[in-house]
Amino acid sequence: MNNIDEVRNSLESKSLKVCVVGIGRIGLPTALSFAKAGLQTIGVDINEKLVDSINTENFPLKDEPGYEEIFNKVRKNGNFSATTNINEAISKSNLILLSLPTPMDEKNIPSYFALESVGKQLSHILQPNSLIVVESTIEPGFIENDLINILEGTNRLYVGKNFTIGVCPENANPGEILHDFTNLPRLVGSIDEQTTKIITMIYDFVFSVELVTMPDCKTANAVKLTTNVFRDVNIAFVNELSLMFDKLGIDTLKVLDAAKRKYNFQIHYPGAGVGGPCLPINSYQFLGTARRTGSKLSIIKLSREINEKMPDYVINLTLDGFKKCKKSIKDSSVLILGISYKPDVKDVQLSPAEIIINKLKALGARIKIYDPYYKGSQVFGISVEQNIEDVLSKVDASIIITAHKEFQEINLKIFTKMKTPILIDSRGVVDTSSANDAGLVFRGLGRGI
Ligand SMILES: NC(=O)c1ccc[n+]([C@@H]2O[C@H](COP(=O)([O-])OP(=O)(O)OC[C@H]3O[C@@H](n4cnc5c(N)ncnc54)[C@H](O)[C@@H]3O)[C@@H](O)[C@H]2O)c1
Repeated sequence: MNNIDEVRNSLESKSLKVCVVGIGRIGLPTALSFAKAGLQTIGVDINEKLVDSINTENFPLKDEPGYEEIFNKVRKNGNFSATTNINEAISKSNLILLSLPTPMDEKNIPSYFALESVGKQLSHILQPNSLIVVESTIEPGFIENDLINILEGTNRLYVGKNFTIGVCPENANPGEILHDFTNLPRLVGSIDEQTTKIITMIYDFVFSVELVTMPDCKTANAVKLTTNVFRDVNIAFVNELSLMFDKLGIDTLKVLDAAKRKYNFQIHYPGAGVGGPCLPINSYQFLGTARRTGSKLSIIKLSREINEKMPDYVINLTLDGFKKCKKSIKDSSVLILGISYKPDVKDVQLSPAEIIINKLKALGARIKIYDPYYKGSQVFGISVEQNIEDVLSKVDASIIITAHKEFQEINLKIFTKMKTPILIDSRGVVDTSSANDAGLVFRGLGRGI
């Protein structure tokens, strides 16, 4: 995999063998894209249930439009299968993509455990002349300072000599992965110019998007983190502004809508908190890099603090609604509308909903949940309701935590069925005057009321 003509031939003849290690939210669509391009692709995962589901033709990512069709096609033509056996998969592959999770622990310290442990396995089983591409989001320097040492740890193979490595950080958005994979530019960095050219050629063959050449792995990973942390910091900025605008009776959404007309203003919205597998972790990854390098990233640290305080503000708005109705929150019943960390996906990783639920419980409230993506399942120890209309007459207040499409299109009149008509909107989906016209006790985060 270090000869550009040989790789080109292996793409044209479809003889390049691909292994994707980690076939979750990002890895599975990645593997399906390689298989759709006609390349034999095998997905490796430690999750036996996931592997079984794939091998029994049961597509696991129902909230990713467009992929079920591709999945059925590449399963049928034999281009894609899954296994838990990494040894067997690696022994048959020349191109190894790592799409492993990079979460953080309870103390917000980023963990590279999955990459390190697969790196150790690869140090024993990697085929000579392989190419490894790391798609996971990592701190700048992780490849150069950590992963290469692990891969060379058994003194079998050496980077630049018997194998090569690069990165192509993933920047797709859950729920829109097919669109993003076929439209968004991607970054390619590696240990040398030749490897970068080879990765670029392969990704161009599979995705046909703009591929941006980076000088090395660490710069590519720095770009990936910069784009996401930029959002975390800007959301903190509007969150903090929205707290002040509430005191001034100013609707933050009106401010933002007008501000975005200026060409160099980039809009970000206030809300109940920033969750998901990317933004909060990416900020802590940069903070980890700052610690290691003796640098200061105070704006990121402060932004995290602001965004992590937003659930408290949602609680304050809720208490204010109860106060207006002269009712105690203790022993009341509160309906949480939306638990996903972002609209229109089934994903509760680091969702502010969980924090808000726990705070409400601590105040003595009983919690009910409605989320169209989790109907009938148990989440955070609570059974998710099947139908919003049926539950409303049993609750005292509703809090919109996720701006799912269903909530954006909701007829506000249904909330008058509640025992006390308290509606809290933490995502700017409710029109204030319509809420008032419907006779609701309405509190909107950052809406000046
Ligand atoms: N989900 C996103 O929005 C998103 C977007 C861009 C980038 N990323 C990055 O992509 C990477 C993957 O994220 P994801 O959301 O797909 O995670 P995920 O948790 O959905 O998938 C990771 C998969 O890896 C498997 N796995 C864990 N340890 C393993 C091991 N030792 N061997 C084999 N398989 C193992 C897990 O079982 C899981 O199926 C992360 O670095 C993440 O930051 C995620």
